[in-house]
Amino acid sequence: MTINKHILLGVSGGIAAYKSAELVRLLRKQGAEVRVVMTQSAMQFISPLTFQSLSGNPVHSELLDADAENAMGHISLARWADLLIIAPATANLIAKLSHGLADDLLSTLYLAATCPVYVAPAMNQAMWNKAVTQENIEKIRRHSVRVIGPEQGDQACGETGFGRMSEPTGICSFLAQALEDQTPAAAPCLHGLKVLISAGPTREPLDPVRYITNRSSGKMGYALAKAALNAGAEVTLVSGPVALAAPANIEVVNVETAAQMHEAVMSRAPDHAIYIGAAAVADYSPAIMQPEKIKKQDEQTTIILQKTKDILAEVARLDKRPFTVGFAAETHNLEAYARDKLARKKLDMIAANWVGRELGGFDSEQNALHVFWENGGETLEMTDKTRLAEQLISLIAGRINTPLNKKGE
Ligand code: PMT
Repeated sequence: MTINKHILLGVSGGIAAYKSAELVRLLRKQGAEVRVVMTQSAMQFISPLTFQSLSGNPVHSELLDADAENAMGHISLARWADLLIIAPATANLIAKLSHGLADDLLSTLYLAATCPVYVAPAMNQAMWNKAVTQENIEKIRRHSVRVIGPEQGDQACGETGFGRMSEPTGICSFLAQALEDQTPAAAPCLHGLKVLISAGPTREPLDPVRYITNRSSGKMGYALAKAALNAGAEVTLVSGPVALAAPANIEVVNVETAAQMHEAVMSRAPDHAIYIGAAAVADYSPAIMQPEKIKKQDEQTTIILQKTKDILAEVARLDKRPFTVGFAAETHNLEAYARDKLARKKLDMIAANWVGRELGGFDSEQNALHVFWENGGETLEMTDKTRLAEQLISLIAGRINTPLNKKGE
């Protein structure tokens, strides 16, 4: 993929700044012209000379610089850029963006920029998890900033968790894809159809205070619900417990357990044209929910688990069944297991994703999907879940409109 665009790279002061040097190299290799803006603290981590050498352009750092104003002042830089990417974006920088502060060149550029803006956060995991940082992230997202990462893993501070800046190769392909996607929105393709989507995890109670759950954040399912709505569908979202805001113009049915999700989906499915099972439904639930808190006694204890009802398979078995799309979350043998689920559960389509890897799957902003149907399939490359959801919805719309899948005609 080529990137024949003007890319403005903002570098703020974190240890991940060294990775951005590689990002410049990769972007230029793909044909982009790159200019770099550094904050004062970024220059403590890496020399502007490194970025100057790699980008082939002078590095900008001063808001009020008479020389710069004559050549590339903040307004000209903002106008020059086809895309602004801030990598790494520290907690402080994100807080400034979310509040509209403009006390240095980079934050001022953000306000002056009319091009798409991307940020790749990098910070200590506790800072990332802090409620105020998450609120700031949500706020800039609402202002159309697209957030790449961060990823989970070992951190320079010795801790482990979410906060590592995404790798330059990942950021580069994300940007390339985003630029390619800057095409007019696709015409609605599910106009007038009712679409039922499940999202998020379930919680299976052990006692009044404990439960078994999984890492699903609901982001994939919520993105699908919004994409289906934008494609003209009437959408119902059955959601497990997640920390996401209910999307506008979508009916959200909140549930907690697999049994509740089963009830909510099965009572609605016959009335829908499409069902997409993106939820990570518990396969097993404690056979007995203890009415009182389980007391700590023996060194070891045993919990008896019982299989939950397979919602997806039951939907596909309905007499009046919707076009049924399952998900498969796999750590190995992805295609074999996904195709087995497709055939065994008699699905129309299955979207398989790798889980337990550094990028994609559970609770990340990005994902890739390997979509299979009988005698066919398509890979949707790693991109943000919003874009990926749009691609999957287009694929579903294409399949549902094939003569084989047209029902009642
Ligand atoms: O929510 P995110 O953080 O954005 O993460 C997205 C995701 C990884 C959760 C999503 O992309 C995904 O893979 N969802 C399905 C996860 C899963 O439970 O996979 P599975 O292979 O165990 O289940 C296969 C299918 O059966 C799924 O469609 C699931 O919804 C369905 N199922 C499973 C068990 C059950 N009792 N009833 C079901 O309907």
